[in-house]
Amino acid sequence: STTQVFERGYKGPVYSDGIHLVDGEGERITESRLSEGEHITVFPEPRPGIEDAPTLLVRYAESDYGGDVSEGFTVNGYAAFSKVCTHAGCMVSDREEDLVVCPCHFGKFNVLEGAAVSGGPPGRPLPQLPITMTSDGFLVATGDFEGPVGPGGE
Ligand code: FES
Repeated sequence: STTQVFERGYKGPVYSDGIHLVDGEGERITESRLSEGEHITVFPEPRPGIEDAPTLLVRYAESDYGGDVSEGFTVNGYAAFSKVCTHAGCMVSDREEDLVVCPCHFGKFNVLEGAAVSGGPPGRPLPQLPITMTSDGFLVATGDFEGPVGPGGE
């Protein structure tokens, strides 16, 4: 059921075919969008709240992901994380190999390990967004972020 998703702050409609991930142009993300090792910024649509929505979508081989990645959080090698740093709320935007880096105080998160903190001041991982692939090949979220987006929630 998708009726409970994004209930935190989001008041708009929830569509029965899931919450599509769209790129900055509003284009829906299809299975072939990324190659292994690529990252892109996407937005769940409808958006749960402008400040909460920016999401980092990554793709790797399924076997590259470590044990901290929960079931239901990867599909066909894709995984999605909030881009809002859990330290003080800046957008993670830089990249060092498989780490994403927050430019404000250089917090580092490992996207192959559930965005676990691997450096800097953040106290917890970037929350993951549970995702799946529709039968017609679109990436959709199946629920809300697994934990609070941004600072706090420790
Ligand atoms: Fe990201 Fe401080 S806000 S490391």
